[in-house]
Amino acid sequence: MKGIILAGGTGSRLYPLTLVASKQLQPVYDKPMVYYPLTTLIEGGIREFCLISTPHDLPRFQQLLGDGSRLGVSIDYREQTKPSGIAQAFLIAESFIAQDPVTLILGDNIFYGGDAFQRAFNEFHAGASIFAYHVQNPERYGVVEFDEHGWALSIQEKPLEPKSNFAVPGLYLYDREVVAVAKALKPSGRGELEITDLNMEYLKRGQLKVFRLNRGFTWLDAGTSTSLHDASAYVQTIEKRQGIKIGCPEEAAFRRGFISLDQLAAIASRMPNCEYRAYLNEITAEAKEGGQDND
Ligand code: G1P
Repeated sequence: MKGIILAGGTGSRLYPLTLVASKQLQPVYDKPMVYYPLTTLIEGGIREFCLISTPHDLPRFQQLLGDGSRLGVSIDYREQTKPSGIAQAFLIAESFIAQDPVTLILGDNIFYGGDAFQRAFNEFHAGASIFAYHVQNPERYGVVEFDEHGWALSIQEKPLEPKSNFAVPGLYLYDREVVAVAKALKPSGRGELEITDLNMEYLKRGQLKVFRLNRGFTWLDAGTSTSLHDASAYVQTIEKRQGIKIGCPEEAAFRRGFISLDQLAAIASRMPNCEYRAYLNEITAEAKEGGQDND
C-alpha cells in the first residue's frame, strides 16, 4: 500500500495565519500539522509517500521532510496547481500509484488511538474502504446513511439535512482502479472532483466497505481557527498526562522498524536543545533499557 498526503488548498478559512505558511504547516500544539497524518500512515506500515501541495508551498514541505530517508521512507512531491477537489489527487499521483493500492490522507486530519487503520491496511484486497465516525456536526462533512443492518446506503457531501451523525474522516483506501474512477468523475456544482462522488461510484459497484470507528478513537480536523485550537488543546492534554507524543514520525518510524535505535539517536543528536529532542532521547534510552532495537 502506498500513501498520498494531500496538503493543498488555499487555507482561506485560517487567513491571515495562512498568508505566509500553508495550513498543514501550522503548529498543532508542539509540531507542524502534517506530522500527524504522516505519523498515522507510518504507524500503518506505509513506506512510499507522495505529498501533494501548491507550487508555492511544496518547497517548504520539502524543507521540512526531505526525501524521507531520515525516517526510512521515501517521499515524492507533486504540485496541485489549482485546487480542484480531493479526488484530483489521484490524477496528479497517477504515475506514483502505478499498479498499487493506495491510501489518501488529508493533511489537516488528526487521528489518535486504536489500530483500526492498521487492520484496514492489512486486510485490504480490492475496492475501496472508508470510515465513519460519530460527530455532533455532520453537515460539515461527507455523511454516510446506513440501513437497519448497518450497510451503507449513500454518502452525501455536506448535506443541509444529514441522514445520520456519521461523518467520513479524511483517510481513504483504494485499489489501483482509483485513477480510472477519478478520471471518469464530473466536477461538482462547486467545480471540484469530489471524494464523495468517487466513494459513491465504488458504492454503486458494490465495492465500498465502510468501517465504523468506535468511541475510543479520536478524529479531529484542524481546518478552522477553532478546530485548530481544539486539536492543539487535545494533543497538549494527552501528551502532558501520558508523557508520550502524538504525531511523532521519528518515533513511529522506529517502532515500525523503519529505522534503528542508532538512527533514532542520530536524528535526536542533530536537533537543537528542545523538548522534542529530549523526548526522542527519552524513548531511545527506554528502548535501550528494554533491549528493543531493529538492527
Ligand atoms: C473533506 C471532504 C469530506 C470529508 C472531510 C474530512 O471536506 O470533502 O467528505 O468528510 O474532508 O475532513 P473539507 O473539510 O475539506 O471541506
